[in-house]
Amino acid sequence: MNPEIRRAAEILRAGGLVAFPTETVYGLGADASSASAVARLYAAKGRPADHPVIVHFATTEAAFSFAREIPPEARKLAERFWPGPLTLILQRSAKAKDFVTGGQDSVGLRVPSHPVAHELLREFGGGVAAPSANLFGNVSATTAAHVRDEVKADMLLDGGASEIGIESTILDLSGSGVVLLRPGKISREDLEEFKVQNPGVSSLRHSGGLERHYAPKTPAVLVPPHQLDAEIAKRGAGVAVLAFSKPDERVDYWIRMPRDPQTYAQRLYAALRELDAAGCETILVESPPETTEWTAVRDRLSRAAASPAP
Ligand code: TXA
Ligand code: MG
Repeated sequence: MNPEIRRAAEILRAGGLVAFPTETVYGLGADASSASAVARLYAAKGRPADHPVIVHFATTEAAFSFAREIPPEARKLAERFWPGPLTLILQRSAKAKDFVTGGQDSVGLRVPSHPVAHELLREFGGGVAAPSANLFGNVSATTAAHVRDEVKADMLLDGGASEIGIESTILDLSGSGVVLLRPGKISREDLEEFKVQNPGVSSLRHSGGLERHYAPKTPAVLVPPHQLDAEIAKRGAGVAVLAFSKPDERVDYWIRMPRDPQTYAQRLYAALRELDAAGCETILVESPPETTEWTAVRDRLSRAAASPAP
C-alpha cells in the first residue's frame, strides 16, 4: 500500500480533510460518519449546512449499505456504471446521518473509478463525504493547483488533471422512477433503457440545481456564434472570450476551445478559472451546439452565465 494513501486514510479516521482526485473533478473528503469532520468540511467550502453531500465508497455493496431500499433499477445502474461518474440518490438507511443528507430522507451515493480515489476509499473502509473541492458556488477544481488555491485540506493527493472535467451525472431513485438531476458524461442516450425523467418542481435541495452555480466571479455571458463578433465590437476592451473560433485581435484574453464535447468538458473549468483571473469585466462564451452530446456542457455554461442573484 502506498504510504501517502495510508496517511490520507489515517487523516480521515482522525476527522481530518483529504482532497483527492476523481475521474470527474477533485473532491474534498471527510469521514461521512463523523458529524465534526463533516462540519469542518462544510466550513472549508463555505457551504450552507442544509445542503446534502455525496458519499463515496470503494464498492457497490458498501455504498448500498447507506440505502434502506434499493430499487432493481439502482442495482442495474450500479452494475453498469460503477465504478464511474454516476451518483445515485436513494432512500437513506440509518447509516446516512442528517449531516450528510441535509436532513432529507435520501442520500447521494457514488463509487468513483479513479485509482487514487478507489485506493483511498478501500484503505479507509467507510463512506467518505466529498463535495467538489472548491468554494461553494464556484467552478469545480480539476487540478491539484485549483484545490490548493481555494480550499484548506489537511492533505492533498495529486492525481493530475481530471479526465472527465465536469461533475458526475446524478439520478434520483428515491421517489418513483428515475429522475435526472444533473447531466454529466453518462448521457440520456447511455441511460436509454432506464426511462429517465426530467425533474419536476421538486422540493429536493440540490445545490447543483441552484440557478447560479459552477460560476466564475467575472460575469459570464453566453453568445450565439453569429453574434460573437458584434458583441465584441459593442463591448470593446474588457472582455475575455471562450470560443471555438480563432482569436480576434481586438481581444487580449481568448481561449480557443475544442469542437469535441468530451475534450471541451475536460478543459472547461481550467479555462473559466484562467479567464476569471485575467481581471476582465465580462467573459463572453460562444454557445456550443444545441445537440444532445453537448447537454452536460451547456448545463454548466448556462449556470456559469446565469445572472448573479440581486
Ligand atoms: O463528480 C462529482 O459528483 C463530484 C466528485 C467529487 O465526486 N462531487 C460533486 O459534489 O460534484 P458536490 O457536492 O459539489 O455536488 C453534489 C450535488 C449537489 O448538487 C447536491 O445538492 C446533490 O449532489 N446531492 C447530494 N445528495 C443529495 C440528495 N440526497 N438529494 C438531492 N441532491 C443531492
Ligand atoms: Mg460542487
